[in-house]
Amino acid sequence: MASLSVEQEPLELYTPSAEVKESAFIKDRAKVTEQARKDLEAFWAEAASEYEWFSPWEKVLDDSNKPFYQWFVGGKVNIVDNCLDRHVRTWRRNKLAIIWEGENGEVRTFSYHALNREVCMFANILRSMGVHKGDRVTIYMGRIPELPIAMLACAKIGAVHSVVYGGFSVEALHGRLEDSQSNVVITCDGGRMNGKLVELKKIADEAIRRAGSVEHVIVVRHTGQEVAMEAGRDYWYHDLMALPIAKSAAGSSRCETEVMDAEDPLFMLYTSGTTGKPKAIVHTHGGYMVGVGTTLKWVFDLRDEDRWWCTADPGWITGHSYIVYGPLLLGATSFMYEGAPTYPYPNRWWSMIEKYGINILYTAPTAIRGLMRFGEAWPNRHDLSSLRLLGTVGEPINPEAWRWYHRVIGKGRSPIMDTWWQTETGMFMITPMPETPLKPGSGTIPFPGIEADVYDETGKPVAPGEEGYLVLKTPWPAMLRTIYKDPDRYVQQYWSRFPGVYFTGDSARKDADGYFWIIGRVDDVIKVSGYRLGTAEIESALVSHPAVAEAAAIGLPHEIKGNAIHAFVILRAGIEPSEQLISDLKAHVVHEMGPIANPERIEIVTSLPKTRSGKIMRRVLKARAQGLPEGDLSTLEE
Ligand code: WT7
Repeated sequence: MASLSVEQEPLELYTPSAEVKESAFIKDRAKVTEQARKDLEAFWAEAASEYEWFSPWEKVLDDSNKPFYQWFVGGKVNIVDNCLDRHVRTWRRNKLAIIWEGENGEVRTFSYHALNREVCMFANILRSMGVHKGDRVTIYMGRIPELPIAMLACAKIGAVHSVVYGGFSVEALHGRLEDSQSNVVITCDGGRMNGKLVELKKIADEAIRRAGSVEHVIVVRHTGQEVAMEAGRDYWYHDLMALPIAKSAAGSSRCETEVMDAEDPLFMLYTSGTTGKPKAIVHTHGGYMVGVGTTLKWVFDLRDEDRWWCTADPGWITGHSYIVYGPLLLGATSFMYEGAPTYPYPNRWWSMIEKYGINILYTAPTAIRGLMRFGEAWPNRHDLSSLRLLGTVGEPINPEAWRWYHRVIGKGRSPIMDTWWQTETGMFMITPMPETPLKPGSGTIPFPGIEADVYDETGKPVAPGEEGYLVLKTPWPAMLRTIYKDPDRYVQQYWSRFPGVYFTGDSARKDADGYFWIIGRVDDVIKVSGYRLGTAEIESALVSHPAVAEAAAIGLPHEIKGNAIHAFVILRAGIEPSEQLISDLKAHVVHEMGPIANPERIEIVTSLPKTRSGKIMRRVLKARAQGLPEGDLSTLEE
């Protein structure tokens, strides 16, 4: 269950400096929290009033059909109107929205004007291709500016984007294409990672061939590598953008922003759960906008003069909320980097922080641990004094990495916002704010308006310091609305274990100060380098290999990745085990799922521990692999 060990009660408490406290947007968190507790609807209504609504909502929260909560019911809005249209009417038109650096050192920048123009033109193209409000569009790209542009263009016309992380491969993309029934795919020729070219278009072609529903493929030329283009199906982005239609009938690059209901879907994003089928989490235009904008402003204190860098990939929820939508909602300047943190040398990130004068850095524990390994000399070569705030997300941060991040990168001045949240929550849920006293390894306390607790098996709160299930007891505006095409699974997965409260899938402790300490997942989800993978998906990739009869995957602690995948396979009759076969199996998983799913170790076995009903007991495999007690074996049947 646990990944890296997290100390329960560290000796140190980091209280923010007077300077940090004074400049923070929220100065009295306790008071704001109290207000939210007293009147949740008034609290979120006030937050929502920061944004532009085409027409106001009638009801802030409709909980008449739990757990299908609705927010800002009756309100008309479009998140893109708030991310772009609203800003280009002000001085922000001339402000940089995105500064992008490619792994090869190429730099591209977009002012709000330029970003809006590009989005408008691409939205016109999508409309002219017959993409309508409610249609699903799959985006499969590297970390390049056209990825947010494509997302925003979809949202602008009311299409629902489904971004598939560019590090995923054929079968992962195929499954997501098929489930979403996307007719249009937006991709690019390839990407740059670690000095190598990634063949995104080639992977997309193979997935599209398996899926069958795709009619149009739009390809951004990024690396210039040779790709196959299928006549009548594939179009170059730059060719389309040169068409008169991109500038609309009026001959300008304008494009009407679709008026959406607050509750209309904005996007869906696949995430791994307990079954092999990834589930598409659905988020909306209204509530998601309010939740993401408010949390980013309050937690990271983002100001107009700041340069913000969230190192995530836009293809995950962190990128959706805090690279694309959140910063644009606030009219902020974001930095985006295409490639690997260590390319060509381990100072790449630090040199870019210096070069661009980054003020706020938001990253993941795995990245910190990975860079820490190269020693202090690399960051110490650079002027990191622009950094004011730091952040982390994705998995528990071990206090050693926390302290290094705080001391070496933040020079002891920058507080660390350890934000706990999920694809499903859309926004930060348990998080410090600049004024919150910090304990290394704890995400501290719930955001105002959020009530979290730790329950035992029977749904009773556990005593302070005891381990239990992390639950959320109040609805919040950026909450997932459903699982696409599977509302029953939404109810069953999140709202059934403890009736009436949201089950997170995490185990945690709450200490005597009310601080939360996340321990790890309690379901069949493995966090590898902060990426969320399902054991079942990895297992089905393994059994799709002709040599494999059965497979089981578990996560075991790993110094850098947090957890690494270990797989156990039973071979088909007549297949001889060999080292070559093991490397073939690893390559097969990478081909089907992507490099992040590459198993650390594959062990060939002749039996797997199972329950009498035939379910693999991964818990037993895990205990055995770690030499730990195997626990209750009453249901075991090997
Ligand atoms: C799971 C959600 C939402 C951002 C990226 C992950 C783990 C996330 C923290 C944190 C400890 C964390 C949890 C959670 N997690 N942030 N600050 N401390 N654990 O989104 O892929 O949906 O994964 O990530 O286990 O349930 P995700």
